[in-house]
Amino acid sequence: MSDVMTEAPDTRALLLAALRLQLEWGADEALLEAPLDRTVPRLAAPGLAAPAPDTGGAEPAAARPRPAAPRPALVAPPAATRAAELAAGAASLDELKAAMAAFDGSTLRETATNLVFADGATGAALMLVGEAPGADEDRLGRPFVGVSGQLLDRMLGSIGLSRDHNCYITNILPFRPPGNRTPTDAEIALFLPFVLRHIVLAKPKRLMLLGGVAAKSLLRAKDGITRLRGRWREVTISEGTTLPALATLHPAYLLRNPAAKRDAWADLLLLRKTLNGD
Ligand code: URA
Repeated sequence: MSDVMTEAPDTRALLLAALRLQLEWGADEALLEAPLDRTVPRLAAPGLAAPAPDTGGAEPAAARPRPAAPRPALVAPPAATRAAELAAGAASLDELKAAMAAFDGSTLRETATNLVFADGATGAALMLVGEAPGADEDRLGRPFVGVSGQLLDRMLGSIGLSRDHNCYITNILPFRPPGNRTPTDAEIALFLPFVLRHIVLAKPKRLMLLGGVAAKSLLRAKDGITRLRGRWREVTISEGTTLPALATLHPAYLLRNPAAKRDAWADLLLLRKTLNGD
């Protein structure tokens, strides 16, 4: 940064604007200790052609026939297949966590600091599913520990629930999307086998789905959260097995739209009434 500060003012403004743009686009974490100059030609990866040198018009050596590269003996299955196989192979929550930590089929793993698996009381009858970790969750490796998590804890407390005693919490995505962007459909589909297996292994009696991403992904619905919330629906967690699920507004949405707390309160009352009758 000190070099930047001694640059000519217009260069400095340009560099700061470039940094600001990177931040806006979600590049808010350093991945390497030192910057990597991607404009310098480097050795090509195995199986990829090296960048063409400037030959001044003469036929480049790369244009001459080259022996065919040996074919790899094994081709890794696509990421979605590997996710489904890893999820199905996990026989306990610890095994599932280890399988998710080992899964390298998503670039989200490269930009995240921690895997955010779950928090709360294992074996709880109520399991909450949120969207994806934010910056605080990514730093600490636990879901819902930032400001929206604090609101969630107060909401649960208002009807006698807490993550320490009777709630278990996870997210649709176990890794923070860069810059807290909304998860893409492809990312949701990729991690869904892990979420469904997580529900099977955690064995809750009921689910609460926090926000539109969790509600739409697990209810396999196109409607928005305002239509999906407010009544018990069914989530299919494996062939022939369903669980009752109540969708509600995401705490982060409630922080931005305090007037919507009225609807969230109605959902909490419905949850309390149902749990009391169980
Ligand atoms: N929002 C979520 O959906 N999940 C978290 O863990 C934190 C914020």
